[in-house]
Amino acid sequence: MNVHVYPFLPSFRLGLVVVAAVSLCYGLLRVTYNLFFHPLSHFPGPRGAACTRLWLAYMELVKRVSLSDLRAELHRKYGDVVRISPNELHFSHPAAYNEIYNAQNKWDKDHEFYRAFDVGEAFFAQTNYLKSKHSRALVSNFFSRQSISELQHLVRSLVRVSLPMSHASPNVTFTLQLDQFCDRLKAQNREGKSSDLYLGFQCFSADTITNFCFAASFNQLSFPEFRGDIVLGIDIAMDTVTLRKFSDVFIWLLRSFPHSLLARISPALKGLLTFRRALKNQIEAILRSPQAMDDAPHRIIYRELLNPEAIKGRPVPTAQQLLNEAEVLFSAGSHTVGTVLMTGVYHLLHNPETKQRLVDEVRSAWPVLDSPPSYEELERLPFLASALLTAVIKEMLRIAPAVPAGLPRVVPPSGAVIAGVRIPGGPGSKALDNCLVAFSKGPRSCLGINLGYCELYLALAYLFRRFDVRADLAKPADLKWSEHFLPLFEGQHLHAYCDPLDD
Ligand code: HEM
Repeated sequence: MNVHVYPFLPSFRLGLVVVAAVSLCYGLLRVTYNLFFHPLSHFPGPRGAACTRLWLAYMELVKRVSLSDLRAELHRKYGDVVRISPNELHFSHPAAYNEIYNAQNKWDKDHEFYRAFDVGEAFFAQTNYLKSKHSRALVSNFFSRQSISELQHLVRSLVRVSLPMSHASPNVTFTLQLDQFCDRLKAQNREGKSSDLYLGFQCFSADTITNFCFAASFNQLSFPEFRGDIVLGIDIAMDTVTLRKFSDVFIWLLRSFPHSLLARISPALKGLLTFRRALKNQIEAILRSPQAMDDAPHRIIYRELLNPEAIKGRPVPTAQQLLNEAEVLFSAGSHTVGTVLMTGVYHLLHNPETKQRLVDEVRSAWPVLDSPPSYEELERLPFLASALLTAVIKEMLRIAPAVPAGLPRVVPPSGAVIAGVRIPGGPGSKALDNCLVAFSKGPRSCLGINLGYCELYLALAYLFRRFDVRADLAKPADLKWSEHFLPLFEGQHLHAYCDPLDD
């Protein structure tokens, strides 16, 4: 049958014109409303930002300005409160932080922002506080102080475990985290090479979190020169978060593309996709026969998420939901710790006096090289608790851009007063990245804070007790980063010579 399309063309063209005209009118009305009638219209800020969110997209995606720098620049120009997009304010006054993030404020996370993570209902991205509360409660015991103390050997000691569910091959035997990290530093030193401590710390924290949550180390530390495939994949994929923040189409494309095709387009993403497939296999194995969890060498996160008593009659999470939670835990727990360690060590190496005092302190807490103290001992020792190691860790957390994002929250309909300014309810508000609240505050603050501290204490003590660490001056580190929720470090990584100490 022949179908002639020509008779339809005029009406098709007319349709297009009508759609374009309606969109234009809608856009103009919207911009007029945002500029003159919106409840936030009296707040200062760039005109473009008040008109449309596309202004922010243009600044971040086209002009490639890091949002952290942009916010600072806008505050210099417009003052303490700036309207950075039609529905979003950002505050620079430190008082604003505690007024937004505190135990009483159970404000929702901003959907516009958190949808970029594309992890469905995973509790990190679950915008509604009450809905997130249940899943958070399921796993909070797993990250409790007591649980971290019990499992701290996963962070530090030379433990050998047989692993039934690794992505490399079944039943792999491997050494764990800090000891392995130190072994790699020694090996590089023997070859006369300095070590890339940025990648080294990222590999350490990635292996720790995967081991801790899934009993499935992805052995990032075993890659030559710390070039772990998953760790590098995270860096490569980092700035897509910014694109996803503005484009549902891009999120849809990423979701719909077959993984094999994605891996071919960007071989660098292969590590991440392998990681995701390995977790998926693990989850499917567990859902098929839950006793697979008993094969793991220690308690793993799925036991909490699938615990019938804790679920209390709610639907059992699907494989996709478990995968979303797993990915969130990995992302939240790996890059953050690595960034804080790298930034802290960079500053120590550039402040030789403070570094020497720290070395002396750690040595007096750890006199015999082969008998490392426990996390509690390091933390509890009076002179350490009150003095340098703790102080250094606090300072590292304060200056490192572990999570530079604005963490936007939605002001409830009743409105709020923030830093003395009355904010109407409904539209979003953005809080200050106050440097002393690295783990955030309030009901949606960091769930992994205990594990984070444990890793920071142990890693710092191990590095400075086992090695004489010197910055590689031939490779001067550039700590320049841009914000994509997490920081993407774009310049030369921190390289250091690590000479092993004998006693
Ligand atoms: C030094 C290390 C760390 C820093 C600085 C840090 C920082 C943060 C911050 C600022 C948030 C708030 C994010 C938001 O409001 O959207 C957060 C949330 C979170 N963090 Fe961490 N984190 C660290 C380590 C960890 C570790 C080791 C884990 C372990 C899995 C973890 C798991 C989480 C989770 C699950 C959330 C979401 C909580 C919720 O939405 O209720 N973090 N973290």
